[in-house]
Order: sequence, then C-alpha cells, then structure tokens
Amino acid sequence: MSPTDFIMPYFVLEGAKEPKEIASLEGVSQHSLSSLIKDVRECYESGIKAVIIFGIPANKDLMGSGAYARDGVVQTAAREIRDHFGDDIVVFADLCLDEYTDHGHCGLIDQSGRVDNDSTLELYQKIAISQAEAGVHFVAPSGMMDGQVKAIRSALDESGFDEVGVLAYAVKYASGLYGPFRDAVNVQIVGGGDRKGYQQDFRNSRESLREVRLDVSEGADMVMVKPAVTYLDVIAQVRELVEIPVCAYHVSGEYAMIKAASNLGWIDGDAVALEQMYAIKRAGADVIISYFAKEIVSSL
Ligand code: PBG
Repeated sequence: MSPTDFIMPYFVLEGAKEPKEIASLEGVSQHSLSSLIKDVRECYESGIKAVIIFGIPANKDLMGSGAYARDGVVQTAAREIRDHFGDDIVVFADLCLDEYTDHGHCGLIDQSGRVDNDSTLELYQKIAISQAEAGVHFVAPSGMMDGQVKAIRSALDESGFDEVGVLAYAVKYASGLYGPFRDAVNVQIVGGGDRKGYQQDFRNSRESLREVRLDVSEGADMVMVKPAVTYLDVIAQVRELVEIPVCAYHVSGEYAMIKAASNLGWIDGDAVALEQMYAIKRAGADVIISYFAKEIVSSL
C-alpha cells in the first residue's frame, strides 16, 4: 500500500472564513477556501495525489441549484485547487444533489415526494458540465439514479469534456454508516425519510454486479463500492468482474467508530485503521477514499 492508493475527502463550506470542526468526524473539518488549500498542500506533501470535494452551500433550495452554479462551492474550490496545484493533484468532485436540496434527497422530488429519476439526470448533466468547466479531472456521481453514468458521459462529451473521467458510485448500499457524513454536509432527509428507493438493499449482493456491469457499459472509468469494510465480499467480486480500477469508500461511520472506540481506550485506533485499509486492499480495491488517508500514510 502506498500514499497514491488514497483519495482524501474534503468538505468545503461556502463563504466560510474559518474551518469548522465536525463533531462526529473528529479531525475532519468543513473548510474555508484558504484552510482547504493549506490542508491539500499537507496532503500533497505526504504523498497523496488525489482529493475528492464535497460542498456545503450557503443556501439550499428545491432544485439544489447550488450544485450546478458556475460559482458554486465545489466549482470555486476546484478552481482554487487547480490554480494552486495544476495537474499535480487529481481533483474528483462528488456529483450529487442532496447537499443542495432543501429536502435532502439526491434527486428532484415530484408532488408525491418521490424522487424522479429521469428529471434528476438532466440536472446531473448540468452539474457535470459546471464541474468540468471548473477544472475537475473526474466527476463522481453518488446519487444512484438509473442511467446516471450514461447521461453524464454524453453531456461531458457533447460539451468538449471528453477527457474528464467518471468515477461511478456503482455499488452504494443504503447504509447506517453515513450518519456523520450527513452532519458534515448539514443534510437531513425531509420527514425522516431514507434513500432505500435509490440505494441498494444490503441483503442483496448480486444486484451489485448488475449495477457495476451497467455503469461500465455506460462509460464509467472507475467503479466504486461503498461502504468498504462491511462489503469486502462485494469488493472482491467486483474486482473479478472488471478490468478498470476499483475504488472503495471507507465511509464516515466506519471512520467514526474507530475514532470513538479509540478515544474510550477500547482499541488502538491507528492499528485498527491500518488493519482495515489493508483488508480493503486485500479484497481488491485499487484506490481507497478514506478520512484516515492523511494520517495513515505516515505509518506506511
Ligand atoms: C451522497 C453521499 C453520501 C456519502 C457520500 N455521498 C451520503 C448518503 O448517501 O446519504 C456518504 C459518505 C460517508 O458517509 O462518508 N451525496
């Protein structure tokens, strides 16, 4: 395992002057633009060469318009990173609506409150183009709408961004492990709802292979499995199935559990984090998104 196996996730808060700690994600902050650049530089110096950006907009609305604004928070952050680091750091942008909608769903909702797959795809295309214009190397659609990779790929190609890649969240389970992330991006799903209509059922593993095959056929350049440690079997199966890189997302809940138990003195957090990263690697992941990335590379 080496530092280049990792993608470091970053949260950027629109308009922030100072970074803000996230209570449930110890050591992780909602960044201002200047604290972001400072942290990305440390990351780069530690040998990590890739980051993924999540935005927290100043305002949320029904359509999630902050997600595709030219001067949106992710677009601005991406431009800033590209200005400072050029092509030395690979910039991925999470492509989704949930951080930007006032109802907290990953897609547009119709009058009955159901997420409407196909009208959401049109917005995903707009987000992709605005992120590509801002200079991201990869877009990473995480909303789990059917046909999202194809829609995004064709929109990018038609706008002259054929060199911008797609990291597809191909396998994403409706997991209880995303709790701290939702604190990090200030998302609450309206009416105590969930994402079981578009994320996967953890009782089903074969569906994952179908999702991966579809995303590859739609033009994905890399596929992701998420969460990681709870789905090592799936990572291993996906590794067998595809030739393109497989990415695993060690998610917020996986990170927070280790930090919490470690703070109580019940486990050695550094040792467990390293053990889990190797487990993910052993299962077949080429790349790992982890909140541990920056702190773990010093022990490799
Ligand atoms: C959706 C998204 C989520 C995560 C990444 N992208 C949350 C969700 O599906 O509710 C979770 C990542 C984590 O828990 O670290 N935009």
